[in-house]
Order: sequence, then structure tokens, then C-alpha cells
Amino acid sequence: MANQMADLPQLPNELLELALAAQNAGQMDKAINAYIAVLDQQPANPDAWHYLGLCQRSQKQWKLAIDSIRKSLEINPDNASALNSMGATLCAVGRFEEAEQYLQKAISQKNDSVEAHRNLGLIYFARKDFKKALKQFRNGLSFDPRHLGLLKSAGNALLHLDQPQKALLLFEKALSVDARDADLQTDTGITYQMVGCFKEALEFNSLSIAIEPGENRHWAAFCACVNGLRPDGTECIEDKLLRLIQEENIAPHDLMMPIAGTLFHRPVFRELIGKYGRFDTNYEGASSDVLRDIEELARIPLFIKLISEYPVTNLVIEKLLTTLRKSILLDQTMIEQVAPGFLPALAMQCFNTDYSFAVTSQEETYLEKLTRRISDQVAAGVDATLSEVALVGCYQPLIKLLDPDAFTGNKVPSYADKMLRRLLIEPHEEKRIRGTIPDWTSSAGDVSDAVRSQYEENPYPRWTHTIKINRRRPVSICLQSPPLNLQLAGYKEPEAPEILVAGCGTGQHAIQPATRFANAKVTAIDLSKSSLAYAKRQTSELGITNIDFARADILKLDELGCNFDIIECVGVLHHLENPIVGWKILNKLLRSGGLMKIGLYSELARKDVIEGRKTVASHGYSPSASDMRQCRQTIIREATKGNGALLQLSRRSDFFSLSAFRDLIFHVQEHRFDLVMIKDHLDELGLQFLDFEMPFAGDIQQYRDSIANRTPQERLLLWHDYEQQRPDTFRGMYQFWCQKTADK
Ligand SMILES: C[S@@+](CC[C@H](N)C(=O)[O-])C[C@H]1O[C@@H](n2cnc3c(N)ncnc32)[C@H](O)[C@@H]1O
Repeated sequence: MANQMADLPQLPNELLELALAAQNAGQMDKAINAYIAVLDQQPANPDAWHYLGLCQRSQKQWKLAIDSIRKSLEINPDNASALNSMGATLCAVGRFEEAEQYLQKAISQKNDSVEAHRNLGLIYFARKDFKKALKQFRNGLSFDPRHLGLLKSAGNALLHLDQPQKALLLFEKALSVDARDADLQTDTGITYQMVGCFKEALEFNSLSIAIEPGENRHWAAFCACVNGLRPDGTECIEDKLLRLIQEENIAPHDLMMPIAGTLFHRPVFRELIGKYGRFDTNYEGASSDVLRDIEELARIPLFIKLISEYPVTNLVIEKLLTTLRKSILLDQTMIEQVAPGFLPALAMQCFNTDYSFAVTSQEETYLEKLTRRISDQVAAGVDATLSEVALVGCYQPLIKLLDPDAFTGNKVPSYADKMLRRLLIEPHEEKRIRGTIPDWTSSAGDVSDAVRSQYEENPYPRWTHTIKINRRRPVSICLQSPPLNLQLAGYKEPEAPEILVAGCGTGQHAIQPATRFANAKVTAIDLSKSSLAYAKRQTSELGITNIDFARADILKLDELGCNFDIIECVGVLHHLENPIVGWKILNKLLRSGGLMKIGLYSELARKDVIEGRKTVASHGYSPSASDMRQCRQTIIREATKGNGALLQLSRRSDFFSLSAFRDLIFHVQEHRFDLVMIKDHLDELGLQFLDFEMPFAGDIQQYRDSIANRTPQERLLLWHDYEQQRPDTFRGMYQFWCQKTADK
């Protein structure tokens, strides 16, 4: 604090200006220091007390905030703005009765105190007195008819009073004030859904996603909207979804449900699923039928786009595709008549899922003949046809069969061009990139070796679209803003944060800090060069230049003598022989006061995975591609016979691609935790728990808010209790931030 104070100007006016500027820029620690310096010289400055209280409130230091604003009011008891701030702060900690008195006084001092009207209205709203709340919001609106917060609050009160049409008028007016408010777009969409106007709702529910794709609430409303659409409404939604698929920023699993829902609205699609997608029977019909049905499917742009771009995480669509693929392979006389674009799209789907679909021995024989024929042709200098190449690409990586120069120039149509890029050129590029990745350390031992070889064979995850955050902000602002709202009291902001991503996998993870924090310099290490090569190719295609990739073992990182401001290690420590040994090494590399993001498996949330691992053991499956394919089919069979845990397992998105499936239930080393164990580890390491960073929504988010005032240790234990009641809470894994408070 002494050093920071020495940098501050001396005159109270200048100090006050600096404090206000820092407060407006969101630099709360700096603003607080400056207000304290003003008050050292002018202890009776009511504005400095008031604004200091507001900064403390923004850091959720409720008690300090209330004390500061109270001091301001002792000096100037009639200041309507400070009275309103006091009311709002008391409200935030649930002291509604006191808050009400302050707000009423604020209004009696200054009737046009719009914020006080709103805050008072919010108290009535919280008490579920929606009529009184609405009246108060309307009072505020009479002074400022375009006040965004009042328009939204009044709209919500009307919804509770069962007057959605009137609410819509207010929401639409609010949107004319700020069309970029994603929550407002979603509220408007939900209201249109309430009055049965799903097509209108769709506009708003898709706009909110485009504005804020990382927010679960918008997706939930969007999916509800898709489900509510009548079949005749699906064409407009297909266009919307097609556009959303192009969005670089949207994760595939978010779109899967609405896309599948929309496709199932089409009678023809339902009919084809009924014909080819059933688990209890195998299609045995005529090839002419198959050709005609493929043509129907090829006429649905959303379907073709879906299977080209995303791993399809839907079992009946997988079965449909498996059946059609088999029919074409077993009757190759029809191959040139298959609708153009279908085979390349199917090949991309099979590649994206690492060839996880079931293959019969008959198919293996046919495939062998086909690949032999193509190899012979290539050796004789004769080009294979694109359809034949695509058909092989539906069963195995093309890199095994062809040179990337085999197809060059203009003769390749665009739909096939994309397939050749994905299946042939990109893997070749990754081979070249492997050679450019430096080796920083050797492996630390047998477990590291085994883990490494798993991810060399099956890099995880093989992604095509990822969320790239384009608004780079200082670390403290980014983490202290909604939805995360971490409390980083006394955090010293590094100017160019040095960040380690330990176990970066295929790069998706490293892209997050690299595109989220201003001036970030990211070092991303992993054991597996296949993963690193994938990561490096993808990040350079996205134009991201602030990540250095290297091969290294976490357990040997202390040999390198480097330190970091932030360390992220998600989904990795639980694969070490002894996770705490690796965590300790990472902790040593973290600078004092630095931040760490950790992701660990939850024992409770992985009951289905444990059941899956038992299936692997009882059948003696190895992690070969063919055993893993068989294992998937066994699980699907058991799940359809009623095994609940395996049914859960078959619904995980990792179930659908072979690399992810190996990571899910074939892992050579897996530890699982609970929150009490994690609390003990954090204590041992001198790390302070901050909060989870997970897509919480609904009840879970409400629970998170309700315990926000408790100490970190209490919150961890409360979350532990919560998880016992709702074991699926941390189904992905625990992902949380912590801060190094003591050097250990
Ligand atoms: C499940 S992947 C997670 C990848 C990434 N963090 C993510 O969230 O997408 C686990 C990764 O950790 C890496 N890994 C496991 N043990 C490691 C070790 N001792 N040192 C470095 N990387 C390791 C693996 O090679 C693998 O790529």
C-alpha cells in the first residue's frame, strides 16, 4: 500500500479526480487507495466516503461499504444519492426493511431520484408484491421514460402479473434503448414464447446467443423456442441455425440439441430415422431406396452442414449414418449416383468422430478390397474417383492411403475440397508441425509415458469450432466482472500476464486465456506432440500469435526455472500418478498473489464413467480402435436394455468420438476427488479458493449467489453438501480459481 500511495498525487482535488477515473475504469483497488488518501487529508469529505463505499460494494465488501456510506450520511444526511446507495447496499445483503427506509427518504428528498424508485420497486419485487413494485417502477419511468433498468424491471413485474402483452411493449422499448443487452433479448424471446409466438421469439432468442454465446440461460431459452416451433416454422429456424454453425464462437454441443430438434420436426427426416436409425433392427432394403433417401437428406442443407462440421452427439442419427455408409460400401455400383456432397460430408463426420461408428466384418472385407484397388491405381498413376476416396474416408484416415498432392487444382469441387483439406492436408500439415515443437523436458516416468502414448494415438479433443473470446481485458476486470465476479482483494495486476497452460491438449484450452486477458503471453505445454501439433495448426489458422507450444512433463517443469502470473491446469492433474505432487510443482512456479485455475474430476459425478470402466474390464476390451468401437456398441445395447448408468454415459458428448471415448473410460490413469479433499489440498498448498468457473444457471446460480458472502472454506463445504444432494452438479468436472496467498 505504501508504494501505491507514493505514486498518487498530493492535492485532494487531483486525488479525487484520479479516484473517479480509476473507479470508472473498473480499477477498484486503485480507486479505493485514492479515496483513502483524500480522506486522510479531508476526513469530512462526504463524497469521498460515499464513492469509497461504492467501490467497496463493487468488491462485495458489504460491511465496509455500509460503514463508509453511513459516514457520508452522518456528514450530509439529506444527500439523496447517498441515501439511495445505502438503500441499494442494504438491499444486496437482504436487510430490506432498513433499505426501504433509506430509499423512501431518498425519494422524499428528491422525488425524481429514478434509481431510488427502481431500488424500492426491487424490494417490493423481492417480496413478491408485484403490483406495488410495478407502481414504483412506473413512478421512476414518469421521470425518465427511457430508463433501461426501469423498463426491464417493469416488464418483469408485468410478467408476474400475467400481462405478457404489456410486458412486451416495455421490453421492445427497452431494446430500442439498448439492443446489445443479451438478457433483455432473451427475456423478450421468452415473453413471445409465453404468448405462443415462437417464430417471433426465435429472432430474440438467436440474437442473444450471437451477443453472448457463453451464457447458458440464452441457450436454454433458444432450445425451448425450437421445441415450441410448429413443423411449418422450422424453415426459418434452419436458416438461423445454419448461420449459427458458421459462427466461430459457438461450441458444437450448444447447437446439437436445437439442430436435432429442428431436423426431427421434418416429417421426412423422422421417417428416415424410423427406417434406418433403429437399434433393434438392421435395414435390409433395396439400394434404389437408399439412393432416393440419401437424396432427400442431401436436400436438407442444415443436415449436410451438421454432419460436415460437428461430431453428431445423437445415437439415432449415428445409426442412420452407419446404415447408409454400410449400404453404399456393400453396393458400390451406386457410388457415382449418390447425391453430390453427401459422401464428403459423411467422411468429415466419420473423421470428426475418429471412426467411432460400428463396422461389421463384411464391411472390413469390402473396405480392404476398395483400398487395395485405390492403392494399385495410384501406384499405376491413375486417379481414384472422388467418390471412392470419400467412401474410404468414411472408414479410415485418408493420410494412410493418399499423398496430399493427389488432388490439386480446379478439378475438385468445393464440397470435396473441404473434405480433402480436413482428412488429408491438415493431418499432413500436423506431421510437419510436429517437427517444429521444442522438447523442454523428458517424461517423468512410467505413468507419464503411458499417458503420453495414449494422447499420441488419440489426441483429445479433436475440435473444429471453439469459443474464442475477442474482448481482451485486464485480468482483474475480466475475472471480477459478471458472470464470474471473483473477489480479488489486493490483487496486483500484471501488465502483460505470463500464463502457463499445463496439459493444453489440442489447444482449445490455451486459446481461452490467450484471447481473454489483455497482453497475455501464454506458454502451453503437453506430453503429446500429436496434440500440440493439432493445437499449433488450429491456433495459427485462427490468427492467434501469443501462445508458445512446447512438449514438457508437468512433473519436470521445476527444472526450467520459470515463473508465471497465472497457471491453468484443467483435466490434467487427475491423470498423474500422484496429482498432489504435480499440483505442488505448479504451485512453486506460481508467483506470490498469482491465480490458478484447476479442473479435477468429481467422484460423485462420474458414477456412469465408473460403470463404463467396469464394462471395459469385464469384457477385457483394449484401447484399440476396433475394441473401442465394439465397447461403444455393448454400452448402447446395455443402455437400451435399461442400464441407467450406461444410458447416462451414452449421453455424454465424449461418448461419440473415439479419442474422447478413450479419454472417458479407457484412461490409463484416473483419480477422482470430492470437495473436502480439494479443500484439504488447497490448505496444504497455501492456495485460497475463489470460486468455480462453470456454466452455472438456474438453481445452481441462485445457490452460488446465496452463499457468496461466506468465507472460501465455508463455501467449499457448502458446495460439498449441495453436491451430495445433486450429484450431477459437477458432471463435467470441478473447475475453479484459487489464489496463492502463502509461499509453500
Ligand atoms: C484431458 S486432456 C485436457 C486438455 C486440456 N487441458 C483441455 O481442457 O482441453 C489431458 C491432457 O493432459 C496432458 N497431460 C497428462 N499428464 C501430463 C503431464 N504429466 N505433463 C504434461 N501434460 C500432461 C495429456 O497429454 C492431455 O493432452
